[in-house]
Amino acid sequence: MKDHPNTIAGILTGIAAATFLVLASQAAWAEGDPTKGEKVYKKCKTCHSLEAGKNKVGPHLNGVIGREAGTVEGFKYSSAMADSGLVWDEETLDLFLAKPKEVVPKTKMAFPGLKKETDRQDVIAYMKEAGQ
Ligand code: HEC
Repeated sequence: MKDHPNTIAGILTGIAAATFLVLASQAAWAEGDPTKGEKVYKKCKTCHSLEAGKNKVGPHLNGVIGREAGTVEGFKYSSAMADSGLVWDEETLDLFLAKPKEVVPKTKMAFPGLKKETDRQDVIAYMKEAGQ
């Protein structure tokens, strides 16, 4: 019976840690502001349309969230992108947009990345709203 209080304390610590992780991850994925995101998207616009089927220098980004990387019909991807195995969601988009060439080495997307986390969250929110 000596161990009993320790076990309870251990369980409580575990629950506290789990709760903290859930809260922390929610904070990290705070929704961006689509209105601000529209401005950020100006950086993407020359290469990416949000209209389905309309490819430019880059593939169209209509419905990009939930899409497998490298799967827009009629767009010639780099093999790096086609074989990346990524599925675009908030998390993978956030990583890719921060440092495209680190997340998909040899991608032909000639874009240095969005340094500010809020810019990435905002532009993702905008793509969700304008292109789904
Ligand atoms: C200079 C042109 C250019 C700019 C600017 C650019 N991209 Fe791209 N993007 C590309 C090209 C080209 C590809 C295809 C990459 C490949 O095949 O390796 C691509 C691929 C992507 C993909 C993967 C699409 C898929 O179907 O798998 C996403 C997502 C993406 N870009 C988002 C963005 C966002 C968001 C911005 C602005 C913050 C941006 N890009 C800016 C040219 C560009």
